[in-house]
Amino acid sequence: MTALFHLQADADLSARNTFRVAARAPWLLRVNELASLPEALELEQIRGLPLLMLGGGSNLLFAGDAPGAVVELRAGGVGIVEDRGPVVRVRAQAGADWHGLVMWSLDQGLCGLENLALIPGSVGAAPIQNIGAYGVEVGESILAVEAWDRQEARWVRLGRQACAFGYRDSLFKRNPERWIVAAVELELSRQGRAHPAGPRLGYAGIGEELAAMGLDPGTHAPTARDVAEAVIRLRRRKLPDPGAAGNAGSFFKNPVVPAAQAQALLAAHPRMPAFPGQGADTHKLSAAWLIDACGLKGEREGDAGVSEAHALVLVNHGRASGAQLLELARRIAGAVQARFGVALEPEPRIVGACW
Ligand code: EPU
Repeated sequence: MTALFHLQADADLSARNTFRVAARAPWLLRVNELASLPEALELEQIRGLPLLMLGGGSNLLFAGDAPGAVVELRAGGVGIVEDRGPVVRVRAQAGADWHGLVMWSLDQGLCGLENLALIPGSVGAAPIQNIGAYGVEVGESILAVEAWDRQEARWVRLGRQACAFGYRDSLFKRNPERWIVAAVELELSRQGRAHPAGPRLGYAGIGEELAAMGLDPGTHAPTARDVAEAVIRLRRRKLPDPGAAGNAGSFFKNPVVPAAQAQALLAAHPRMPAFPGQGADTHKLSAAWLIDACGLKGEREGDAGVSEAHALVLVNHGRASGAQLLELARRIAGAVQARFGVALEPEPRIVGACW
């Protein structure tokens, strides 16, 4: 029988972060059963220490060692909890692999997650940074998040509104010390229509990719599986293979700037991509384009580099340290600030240093 949890001292984290940088933690707590989490957190060795939740390690940069205890929730059960009519409720535990959940949902004939195929990481990490791609964010499908509230020492179930999802943002991201995400409840659809507005095909590239697959969206209504396949093909082509060089996907968020600033930049750079922001008076710019325009795509400082495939992705070509990658990131942000007057913010959580 597997132990409910396991505590290891002085743990090596280099295989536990997708940047594959060297880092250690004084303690690594692996929790196999969600119900045993509160008891595990009370272990004498780690009680009161800072905690760092680790999912797939795909949205983290260790610029130094982890302080305190790193906690890995391994429970990864996935199942349908209610299947009445067109809307199906699915519950997935934090330790499940995100892409595995997307493929499982398609196998069940469920729609809603197809645009989010091939995003690395665990289910537990998905709501924290409200993962998104190709015009869809996971928060749209989330009905509730089950979490351990460390402040109140109790299990809570927070509905979609309470999770306060934003662009790569949530209540959990803003309060990393308070909640430990244990499971996610999703609302998916059986009707070939993703929740809430149908398959999102408008996003640049998806329609073209479907056409390249021989599926013209004008004459053939693509299935959720077709869309997932198009997304997988696009991601494989546009993003560097995490198996080939350590990376954490987009390193910077796309900056949101006042509309007037976007207009001024567009006047000077008519080819610059700009999209309407959440509010009418803001625009979202493309961080990849800004970095590329500074001539930094493919840049390399030792083993720390900017991907040749996508200017938004930092890569570890071999033995870069987290501190070296952070230094490169700061230089990139400095160049974009100097050239365009736009501040870039990192998307991954940085451990052991401040941005
Ligand atoms: N572009 C360049 N140079 C490049 C790459 C892109 O100039 O090297 C320009 C292109 O003009 C393109 C624009 O940047 O039109 C946008 O590029 P892309 O469609 O690849 O999307 P992105 O805004 O760079 C975002 C997400 C990705 C997600 C894609 C697809 C963020 C920070 N990133 O990237 O998410 O996969 O859209 O929806 O929002 C991630 O979060 O880790 C991630 C990979």
